[in-house]
Amino acid sequence: MEGENTQDPTQASTNGRPSRGVTRKTLLKAAIAAAPLPFVLGGVSWARDDTTPSGQPLAPTPYCDDNDDPTPPQMEGPYFKPRSPQRTSLLESGMQGTRLTLTGYVFGLACRPIANALLDFWQADVRGAYDNRGYRLRGHQYTNAQGAFTLSTIVPGLYPGRTRHIHVKVQAPNRPILTTQLYFPGEPGNNNDPIFHPALVMAVTNVGGAKQAKFDFLLNVNQRADR
Ligand SMILES: [Fe+2]
Repeated sequence: MEGENTQDPTQASTNGRPSRGVTRKTLLKAAIAAAPLPFVLGGVSWARDDTTPSGQPLAPTPYCDDNDDPTPPQMEGPYFKPRSPQRTSLLESGMQGTRLTLTGYVFGLACRPIANALLDFWQADVRGAYDNRGYRLRGHQYTNAQGAFTLSTIVPGLYPGRTRHIHVKVQAPNRPILTTQLYFPGEPGNNNDPIFHPALVMAVTNVGGAKQAKFDFLLNVNQRADR
């Protein structure tokens, strides 16, 4: 049950290759080396300060340390369904529950973002029920050229025996699948759920009546040390 497998949950992960990405850490080193002007790497223009050349704020800084451990695998559980629809929003009209926006990056072992990585999410509804007949609150997507993803969904409800969680499979193009689960901070059930893992807790903030969560995946995928 636990661990990685090599099945493709969506039959759709053969396109694309990891981009020749760069890490923020690398960029910071380069900036410290006194690059006087914004520079362009991996198709993304980076400035030395926190704004783009046009003065727009930069996207949140991806953080990854070369010594970080890979994101731990977790059991798939009984409710995964293959061939989920490709979509970044699981919201449907009339859907109840606190809105949740999850953002993050997918990195490899060298801390470079991985473009076109597959993320397949599934979760319970506000009452703690999974849709096992259709694909409600199920969907897959791919990281963009910067290795980033965004999921719009709801905070999942609780069901007996488990703390609050979201299931996900993550796969770099043509690499093994990581099956794992994401957790919410401060949940009473985190103390009682034997599957809970603190390394899988999202950073969650309240924004109005909604929640924003961040989580970066670090896949056990070697990346060439050519930076
Ligand atoms: Fe579950």
